[in-house]
Amino acid sequence: MMTKNNRIVVGNWKMYLTYNQAQEWLDNHFNDLVALASETDNEIALCPSFDALPSFCKGFADSRIAVGAQDCSRNASGAYTGETSARSIMELGCTYSIVGHSERRTYNRETSEIVAQKAHMAFYADITPIVCIGETHEERDAGNTQKVLESQLTPVISMLNVNDITKPFCIAYEPVWAIGSGRTATIEQLNETFGIIASALKNTPSSSSIRLLYGGSVNGTSAPELAKTSMLSGFLVGKASTDFQELKKIVLSI
Ligand code: PGA
Repeated sequence: MMTKNNRIVVGNWKMYLTYNQAQEWLDNHFNDLVALASETDNEIALCPSFDALPSFCKGFADSRIAVGAQDCSRNASGAYTGETSARSIMELGCTYSIVGHSERRTYNRETSEIVAQKAHMAFYADITPIVCIGETHEERDAGNTQKVLESQLTPVISMLNVNDITKPFCIAYEPVWAIGSGRTATIEQLNETFGIIASALKNTPSSSSIRLLYGGSVNGTSAPELAKTSMLSGFLVGKASTDFQELKKIVLSI
């Protein structure tokens, strides 16, 4: 697993902003964001919705800010109405793609097998996948956190092994109960969960280049404490990342 150096903050903008609002955000904060990136060794990546990707990729092309998509197709190309391939995302200039976010697992019925296929497509297109996993409140209460995380990881692990993938990527641990709830995981919970993830992935070809992120109600107030987690390589931030001042606090706190 990667160390504390060179952490990353990824903003998952979900469907919070319309096309015009995202362009306005870019106009208002472009210079400040570029200045912020120059103040830190940490990496910043923004994942706006698909419609905003071309202007964000163009705008940040010569900067240290990376751009990512919130999803990609599990197929390379063909008759898949409404889908966008990882290859297209790469051609636009994206560096990352989130795959398997719990909202997609819930609302779009994405299984862990589908998520592994998406991650595979991302690798194949030279996009770094950010694979999201996490248990629900009920699963944690029933003592099933480890079982759930391992079963979400199993298809990803076989995909890495079968294809001998050595490229770096991110696993974002996002407990469903922490997303958008104002409740975050504790450092103890993160240490325990990151341990589970690290040991599940330890025999994969890419094990030395995996970054472990946490997501779920990260904001300028919760970030400094969460950042003390030793195995943490960064945050996947939803709502708070659309507020520049919050984003700045998070980036400067890790
Ligand atoms: P949140 O979302 O920061 O708004 O809780 C995180 C996520 O869903 O990636």
